[in-house]
Amino acid sequence: MRILAIESSCDETAAAVVDMGPSYRRILSNVVASQVDTHALYGGVVPEIASRAHIEAISMITRQAQSEAGLSLKDLDAVAVTHTPGLIGCLLVGVSFAKALAFSAGLPLIPVDHIKAHAAAAYLSHPHLEAPFSALVVSGGHTSIYRVPTPSTFVEIGGTRDDAAGEAFDKVGRIMGLPYPGGAAMDALAAEGYALLETGDLKKIPLPSPALRDCFDFSFSGLKTACVNYMHNYRQIHGLDKIDPIPHEEKVRVAVSFTDAAINGICKTIRNVLQYTHEKTLVLAGGVAANSHLRKAVLSTAEKHSAALYTPSIQLCGDNGAMVGAQAYFEYLAGVQAGTGLNAFASGEAATICPAL
Ligand code: KG4
Ligand code: ZN
Repeated sequence: MRILAIESSCDETAAAVVDMGPSYRRILSNVVASQVDTHALYGGVVPEIASRAHIEAISMITRQAQSEAGLSLKDLDAVAVTHTPGLIGCLLVGVSFAKALAFSAGLPLIPVDHIKAHAAAAYLSHPHLEAPFSALVVSGGHTSIYRVPTPSTFVEIGGTRDDAAGEAFDKVGRIMGLPYPGGAAMDALAAEGYALLETGDLKKIPLPSPALRDCFDFSFSGLKTACVNYMHNYRQIHGLDKIDPIPHEEKVRVAVSFTDAAINGICKTIRNVLQYTHEKTLVLAGGVAANSHLRKAVLSTAEKHSAALYTPSIQLCGDNGAMVGAQAYFEYLAGVQAGTGLNAFASGEAATICPAL
């Protein structure tokens, strides 16, 4: 089944063509236009600017995805689009565009939940992955744990009560003067920090764990605030002004301390989830799943519980259209389709009213 999939929930305008079937999962094209440089100026995504940028890019990106796949509209079997959760103005651009495209081409329209799509990216990197599995989706906007008994059924069993993991990475990076989004730069700094920890040349800052007790929920705001306070104190003690650069060694110490606290909290919760669910298959997905230290630590946690870990390739961890197409295939098989009445929903809960459309 050849699906043209569109993603515009945050700051990436993306379109892809995937070819999915019972025994194959192929990405025919996957085009992503990132707005990161535009938003870096403000240190975070500005919703109105993001929506406008989607409007400017969406036609061209969709056409490029079709042309790279070498397929015209008549060669396609369906159009899919992310309709929740995300920034409402951004989602509406993709949803309106996809509705018009599907309607004009007489193709079925498949609405896709962005978080499910992140997990579905793992199908594309691992052709043999099948539900049931447990999934942890860690991104800039979400940190949620699901049981996935069938590919289209996601039951949330835990999540963050405040900040998402990626949001915390970005905020801590920002306070150290790293460019937005800080996740990848924090990853590199933490690598230096882990090497120094091994040789005993660095001491970690004691930080609170994001894992909450007696549940599968997280709280990343305490961890984030502890890092922010540490940096403020450091500036005061060393007579540094707000704009004075932080010494590299101190950035390394904060990055590795934060990363380690985040990873230990995530792995502790994963251990509890695997013990509770007795699931032997685990998916780790979302933008933060690109973190090299997190990938290693979760793999070792899964192995200790004799569970197989499936993580999308690094290129498929961030927002993209192919992951939307992959999930759309399973939604279609489960009978999920929308008409021209399809709407966008900023928060995931509202999505439950959508299948009736
Ligand atoms: O999934 P995603 O592309 O967008 C959302 O749906 O939110 O995730 C973006 C997030 C950002 O917070 C970014 O800093 C983070 O993923 N990220 C990373 C890494 N690469 C991207 N966080 C930690 N380590 C990385 N290597
Ligand atoms: Zn995302």
